[in-house]
Amino acid sequence: MYPSSGHTNGYHDQQQQQPEQQRFVTTAQRPRVRRGPRGGGGGGVRSRDYGDGFRVSGEDNSQPPSQQAEQQNLAPCTDFDKAYFHSYAHVGIHEEMIKDRVRTDTYRSAILQHQRHIEGKVVMDVGCGTGILAIFCAQAGAKRVYAVDASDIAVQANEVVRANNLSDRIIVLHGRVEDVEIDEEVDVIVSEWMGYMLLYESMLGSVITARDRWLKPGGLILPSHATLYMAPITHPDRYTESIDFWRNVYGIDMSAMLPLAKQCAFEEPSVETINGENVLTWPHVVKYVDCYTLQIYELESVTTRFQFKSMMRAPFHGFAFWFDVEFNGPANVNANAQILLPGSPNPPSLDGVVKKKRTNPSDMLILSTAPEDPPTHWQQTLIYFYEPMEVEQDQVIEGSLTLSQSKENRRFMNIHLEYSSGGRSFVKESVMR
Ligand SMILES: C[S@@+](CC[C@H](N)C(=O)[O-])C[C@H]1O[C@@H](n2cnc3c(N)ncnc32)[C@H](O)[C@@H]1O
Repeated sequence: MYPSSGHTNGYHDQQQQQPEQQRFVTTAQRPRVRRGPRGGGGGGVRSRDYGDGFRVSGEDNSQPPSQQAEQQNLAPCTDFDKAYFHSYAHVGIHEEMIKDRVRTDTYRSAILQHQRHIEGKVVMDVGCGTGILAIFCAQAGAKRVYAVDASDIAVQANEVVRANNLSDRIIVLHGRVEDVEIDEEVDVIVSEWMGYMLLYESMLGSVITARDRWLKPGGLILPSHATLYMAPITHPDRYTESIDFWRNVYGIDMSAMLPLAKQCAFEEPSVETINGENVLTWPHVVKYVDCYTLQIYELESVTTRFQFKSMMRAPFHGFAFWFDVEFNGPANVNANAQILLPGSPNPPSLDGVVKKKRTNPSDMLILSTAPEDPPTHWQQTLIYFYEPMEVEQDQVIEGSLTLSQSKENRRFMNIHLEYSSGGRSFVKESVMR
């Protein structure tokens, strides 16, 4: 795990300030399995030419790759980035992703569905990992695939490519997309860049960099669009399991443990699976991303205001976040998504409460991580309150949310949540690290 960013996670009721000793401050949460950073060092990208299409960035240049990136105004490769890439050298992380059939099958279907754009064309796989998506593209008839990864997993990707007799069509580039050089434009970019809460890991900026460097006008990006959602949730079982448990332990009153238990369980976002019954309202669209037009600076900070009406009387335990991605061509911008927003049904502002579940017409593929859909390795991300709040049916829950890249390590995400309901207001700060 990375060292703390120094960000203080706090919580206070704006009406009734808590006494100092009851405020919760930063402490480590129980370990979570993350597909993202696991710490560590290494990750150097200058190496040798393997002579079979495997190339390493910077090898023909007199400057180190990061210096080239800085000169081109691209993000320099920090020690945090090196640790991030190092985390992707573990086999386990790739096993987890590839075994996620919802994820991998949807990518394969999307590649096959767009075969006419891929056949005989040049493709770039941004962050190829083991090379699986690059190979799907070669199987779909791509003339050439540049499979780029800054992690040492690129060495294995090259072995996999060679073992499948695809070295003549797949060129594995071991380096950051910000640093590698290719001498042609590409027709298609494919990438699996989504982190927890969609934006965690901050990999999307690298896909945008690749788009701006190499994608031909009118080229295809898979996935093309992404939407991050949030909704209030009730989760009494989780609260009972982690908190109420301490009230009576083998007949002993251990309630003194409650503040620590709440702090440890609920201070930081928690990645876990919920289902549709935990969700109290229709979701709100936090951010809609069009990969064809998005600019990198837009990812530094995302702010949204929300207003929900609880559909039932229930204890309100926090908010859940999930996302979906779509696989459309550039001209087919969200043409089939049925998102109806209050007050602005057509065209949708794409920043509001979703009144109707998206439909999935046969010509539009969606990879969804919603609670009501089949589970994925992303699960859902939950931000719990330290104390649940009772809400009545139709009670309004409103507030604002800001997600921002940590200044210290842009792979981390700072979460500033303000919410109020029933005349009480709260602020919760947390960090996804
Ligand atoms: C989520 S994994 C996806 C791996 C593979 N495409 C798959 O679908 O199984 C993301 C990969 O992107 C790589 N990556 C992230 N940012 C990158 C960058 N800027 N340049 C090159 N590789 C990057 C990581 O090292 C990691 O292997």
